[in-house]
Amino acid sequence: MIPAETPKKLRLAILVGSKGRGSNLMNLLEASAAGEIPAEVSLVVSPVADNPASLFAHEKGVAVQVLSPKTEDYDSKLLDTLMEHKVDLVCLAGYMTLLPNIIVRRYSGKILNIHPALLPKFGGKGMYGVKVHEAVIEGKERESGATVHWVTERYDEGEIVIQIRCSVEPDDTPETLSQRVLACEHLAYRQAIRMVAGYD
Ligand code: GAR
Repeated sequence: MIPAETPKKLRLAILVGSKGRGSNLMNLLEASAAGEIPAEVSLVVSPVADNPASLFAHEKGVAVQVLSPKTEDYDSKLLDTLMEHKVDLVCLAGYMTLLPNIIVRRYSGKILNIHPALLPKFGGKGMYGVKVHEAVIEGKERESGATVHWVTERYDEGEIVIQIRCSVEPDDTPETLSQRVLACEHLAYRQAIRMVAGYD
């Protein structure tokens, strides 16, 4: 849990990937506006300026920092950006690379990730997006869902905060399953933020 000196509203940074569709970002912005989470989205960090997540954030007046993991001094630039925006909680949403160690250490216990499956199954390097749902269907799983977990220096291994489950239907394709799981993701991220803020 975020420690006792938690401010009334947590300042969130959402880190997205280059293809950033932005549905988790939109979900958290909506939840914040509706007062459903004790948090506000203060910053979006994206490797590119023109993915849907960045464009949406820009439209909503949220600060967008374009910063690619390939940039020289990426680690210190990312750290500076998070500190400059006084970020309390970092939320990964489609961020596909490992976070630099310096960030994981500095924000230890303050970084969440969302994964589109029931970890520890179907996680690890290379397991992202549609590949996860393909593997779940191939594995003949009867249920899937979303996991929100704390971020460590390894892929998908930190302590689980919450999981929300859904069925895998016999006629599911990776696309139909991904839609069902995405609904779980949106519930899970809202719930996780309430939990880490000490509300639930
Ligand atoms: C989400 O489905 C998230 O679970 C997944 O990327 C998508 C981002 O969607 N993350 C991973 O697969 C991490 N291993 P969004 O841009 O609509 O939020």
